[in-house]
Amino acid sequence: MPVSSLTEIERRQSIISYCLLMNELGINQGMSGNISLRHGDGLLITPTSIPYDRLEPEDIVYLAADGTPTGRRPPSSEWRFHRDILHARKDVNAVIHAHPTYCAILAIMHRPIPPIHYMIAVAGGHDIRCAPYALFGSEELSRHAVEALEQRRACLLAHHGMISVGSSLEKAMWLAVEVETLARQYHGCLQIGEPPLLTIEQIQEVATKMAGYGQTE
Ligand code: 13P
Repeated sequence: MPVSSLTEIERRQSIISYCLLMNELGINQGMSGNISLRHGDGLLITPTSIPYDRLEPEDIVYLAADGTPTGRRPPSSEWRFHRDILHARKDVNAVIHAHPTYCAILAIMHRPIPPIHYMIAVAGGHDIRCAPYALFGSEELSRHAVEALEQRRACLLAHHGMISVGSSLEKAMWLAVEVETLARQYHGCLQIGEPPLLTIEQIQEVATKMAGYGQTE
C-alpha cells in the first residue's frame, strides 16, 4: 500500500510491525536499529531504547522537520540521519537502520560491497559504500550517511551497521535483506580470495533490465 494512503495510526502500527519483522528476519537483534516513515512535513520514528515487542503506537515519536519531537517517548538517538535522509531524498519515504551481522563485519573492516553479484544493482548503483565512522547519533554520522547514500538506496556505516531506504517500508526492508545477503556472499568470497567483479557497464545493463522487471523503486 502506498505510504500516502495510510492513516497516522496505521503508519505507527506498521513501523512497529517492521521493527518486529527485522528482528524475526535475523537482520537485527535486541534494541539495536531504528525505523522511520515520512509523515507530512516531518516523520514518525521509533523511540530510543525500548524493546520492540513492548512498543505501542503511542510510543512512536513524531519529529517535525526541525527535529522537534512530539510524543511520550524521546526519539531514536539516530533521529538526525533519519531526518536528514528524508530531507535530502524526496524519492524516499522509509528509512531502516539495523546491525546485521555480515554488514557489520564488512563495516568493521571498512569494506564497501563491490559488484560481486548482479543483485547489487537493487541498491541503486555498482557498489554499496561504507560511510566513515562517527559516534552514533552525531551530526557527523548523519553527514556521512547522507553522502554515502548519494545515488544509492543502501550504505554501510563503519564499525556500526547499515541503512536501507525506499519509497515504502516494504521496499526498504526487502532491500535490507538483499544487502545483508550480498554482505554474506562477499564475506564468503573473501574466505577464498579477492573475488572477480562485474563492471560498472554490466551493472548498468542489469539496472536497465530490472527497470521493467519490478525490482526497482
Ligand atoms: P536507538 O534505540 O536510540 O534507536 O539506538 C539504536 C541504535 O542502533 C543506534 O545506532
